[in-house]
Order: sequence, then structure tokens, then C-alpha cells
Amino acid sequence: LKVNNQNPIGIFDSGFGGLTVMKEVAKLLPCENIIYIGDTARLPYGTKSAETVLQYSLEIADILYKKGCKLLIVACNTACSHSLEALSQLLSIPVIGVIQPGAELIQDKTRVAVLATSGTIRSGVYQNLIQSFAPNSTIYPVACPLFVPLIEEGYGETHAAYLIAESYLSSLKGKIDAALLGCTHYPLMRQTIQRVLGSEVHLIEPASACAEKAKKVLTQTGLLSTQEKPLYQFFATDDPEKFCRLGQSFFGAHLSHCEHLYL
Ligand code: DGL
Repeated sequence: LKVNNQNPIGIFDSGFGGLTVMKEVAKLLPCENIIYIGDTARLPYGTKSAETVLQYSLEIADILYKKGCKLLIVACNTACSHSLEALSQLLSIPVIGVIQPGAELIQDKTRVAVLATSGTIRSGVYQNLIQSFAPNSTIYPVACPLFVPLIEEGYGETHAAYLIAESYLSSLKGKIDAALLGCTHYPLMRQTIQRVLGSEVHLIEPASACAEKAKKVLTQTGLLSTQEKPLYQFFATDDPEKFCRLGQSFFGAHLSHCEHLYL
């Protein structure tokens, strides 16, 4: 497939979390057309096996590729953990994820907690990358499987979420300098996480570093768009109205239209 600079950027996630990444991409690259797919029919990815998530990711990425995307952003840490390498090898367009940009933000000698889904933690991808970028850091990986359903029900910043966060994270108190939000849903629980860990702990989100990387890749390949009015297209594999309703808190803006993508 031949791509030129007006072709869209493709972004996908298991559902809504990737919209927190799209928000940063749209902010940094306001001239880019973007196609977003949320695989809401098969969410969550975070509790599923590596093989299943790989299969789902290949399928969604292929749809974006066939829609003519010039760059693919895997805006789901779980999908990145299990499919980024395969996607980079299979597709003839650049593919970037959220994990490497996030891991690169960790300074050496930091004591850092990595908070993510069970699948992401089990894959060890964050642990390995942080170890290679910041070899003298101390890493505390913590799977937080109840965070995604809480956030999707709009409970991210509630007392119930605080109690669950406390049971996952209280043992980290006093041991860490930073916590990396290794799931694209977690920005919607940021205040709760901060309250549990204490204000001195620095919370790190990979989304804007991922957007910077997208800009760099498009600049290097001469594929930056120059048009004035970008087009955003949203697709969901389950109920598009629900996608618009839930999606706006992740995207930080009203979502007026989403199409149902039947797999
Ligand atoms: N947003 C996904 C991630 O970044 C997790 C959501 C899910 O479990 O499907 O890992």
C-alpha cells in the first residue's frame, strides 16, 4: 500500500483507554487525520492470554493498515506487550507503542512501581525495557486487575476505588519515588492513585512521550500532514453509542460519532 502525508494515523486499544493517547497525539499533531478503533466487544485484553491478545491485535491492526494508515499507534499496553514485535515485522508502515516511550521516561536510580494489567505485568516487557534504559533502577511491578472495570464504570475517583488501590499499593508506601501508569485507562484514576501513594511520588504517564515519538517518526519519514481541518473517525466493535458516551471522559472532549465495526 502506498501512503502519503494526508493518510491517517491509526490508533487502537481494547476499548477506551487509547483515547487518552489519542488526546495527546491530537494535541501535538493537530493537522493529522486519525482513525481510532476500540475493540470494545472483546475488552478487556488485560486478563486474557498472550496468544488471544496477539490474535486480536493482528486483526485490528490489519483493518487499520487496509484503511491506508501511514503510522500505527498501539495505544494499549497489554496489546503492546504481546504484539508490538509481530506488528512491526508484519506491517510495512511504522508501528509504535506506549511501553517504550514510557520506559524511557524512567531515570536511572529511580525506585519505580509499574502499575498495569495482569497481562502486561506477566509479559515482563516493562521490567526488561526499564532495566535496559535505567539499569540501576529498582522496579516494583504491580498488577491491578480491578482498576480497568472500575474506571469503565466511572468509579476511578471514588472511595471504592481508593480502597482497592490501597489494597494493591499500600505496601509500596515509602519504597518508591515514582509510579508509571502502565495502562492507558489509569489516567482516569490518577488522583486516587496519587492519594494512596502520597504526593511525593511522581506519577508518570507514557501518552505524551508516545505522541512525541509519533511526531518524530512522521518527521523522519516526511509524512507529517499539513492540512488545516483534520478528520477523526472512531470505530468500536461493540455498541457505538456506548463508545461515545464512555469515551468522552477518556478523550476529554465530546465524541459525536462512532461507527460499529463488525468483525
Ligand atoms: N488499556 C489497556 C492497557 O493499556 C487495558 C485495558 C484492558 O484490559 O483491555 O493495557
